[in-house]
Amino acid sequence: MTLILGLETSCDETAAAVVADGLTVRSNVIASQHRLHEKFGGVVPEIASRAHLERLHPTVTEALEIAKVTLADIDAVAVGNRPGLIGSLLVGVAAAKALAWSMNKPLIGVDHVRAHLYAGLMQAPAAAPQASPPPPATTTLSTDDPIHPGNREALFPALGLVVSGGHTSLYLLESPLAMTLLGRTIDDAVGEAYDKAAVILDLGYPGGPKLDKLARTVPDKAIPHEYRLPRTMLGSDSLDFSFSGLKTALLYKVRGYPVGRGEAAHFERSAADLTDLHKAQLAAAFQAAAVQTLLQKIQRALDLLASRGTPARSLLIGGGVSANSRLREEALSLGRSLGLVVKLPAMSLCLDNAAMIAGLAYEQLQRGLLADLTLPALATSDLRQG
Ligand code: KG4
Ligand code: ZN
Repeated sequence: MTLILGLETSCDETAAAVVADGLTVRSNVIASQHRLHEKFGGVVPEIASRAHLERLHPTVTEALEIAKVTLADIDAVAVGNRPGLIGSLLVGVAAAKALAWSMNKPLIGVDHVRAHLYAGLMQAPAAAPQASPPPPATTTLSTDDPIHPGNREALFPALGLVVSGGHTSLYLLESPLAMTLLGRTIDDAVGEAYDKAAVILDLGYPGGPKLDKLARTVPDKAIPHEYRLPRTMLGSDSLDFSFSGLKTALLYKVRGYPVGRGEAAHFERSAADLTDLHKAQLAAAFQAAAVQTLLQKIQRALDLLASRGTPARSLLIGGGVSANSRLREEALSLGRSLGLVVKLPAMSLCLDNAAMIAGLAYEQLQRGLLADLTLPALATSDLRQG
């Protein structure tokens, strides 16, 4: 058995995890910084990197304790070294180097975006008891072990969709490590659009989960026609995304069109003028438009891969927005209608976490893709358009 300690500090979650054989999550500790950034309405990079410095050591200690192991039991140290906020990444990268060097164990640098897609291939960690029913889980290849090593090969080639605060991209995956970019957002990421929409609707930070929850209270048929928001598809065969128009359309529905010009331009209405019902209807209109856009692009990409003679054998979705209840339901329903396996991460593996880093690192370790003490922290992903 191979135990990997993963570290993740790319944005505003300080995370450490211990994963066995790339599949079994022994611990998955996430120290969120949300409260530090809340009053600013978004992540403040300088505050984030300082908080990582303070939190990383106790987070690693807790991850080892929960996994009931010591550093001596760890076979390799993995760290998300790209993409992300440079100051934040540097904290994790420096810590991982120090740990690997002092233990004389392999160091593995992992691309955060790739790792998000790997999360759906990992075993769901034991869930904490929940008051409300859990959202839809992943569909499985077989009724016994969904990620039985014998089944893994059968998932590829796969179509991958990463939906997070920084990314909205489609990939063709030949294996967990061989990924080609098919399309990406040309402006806002869908998670970013959710967060901005939540600010426009005055729902608080972080906005995605709050907007999702409110949107669920309104069925599609109860969304007034005048609240319908645009689905931006770009060119007829484009696999790129654009969410800034959706966000602006919501802004105008909430505040009306700006009055005046230049510096005197202002809105005469705000979210405070909306009734609770109208606010919920607008949230539902936003969610319907955002998720349907994602689903249509998935369908387009599946068609493209089929027309190239390389039909996808599964759909992998990852990133913070893969926690979205509607996206999960609609993706699973699309999978059922097409007979396509859909792999969604367990809820605890959707948002930024270190288990996915340790998971993908196992694949890299198997192939000898190791780093050394020159491993850089990089702001961008290594994934380019194919
Ligand atoms: O992957 P992630 O934790 O961080 C990045 O790598 O960006 O994704 C965070 C994003 C945020 O924009 C957050 O609002 C969004 O995921 N998010 C959601 C939901 N849960 C998190 N968006 C829509 N619905 C949700 N339930
Ligand atoms: Zn992420």
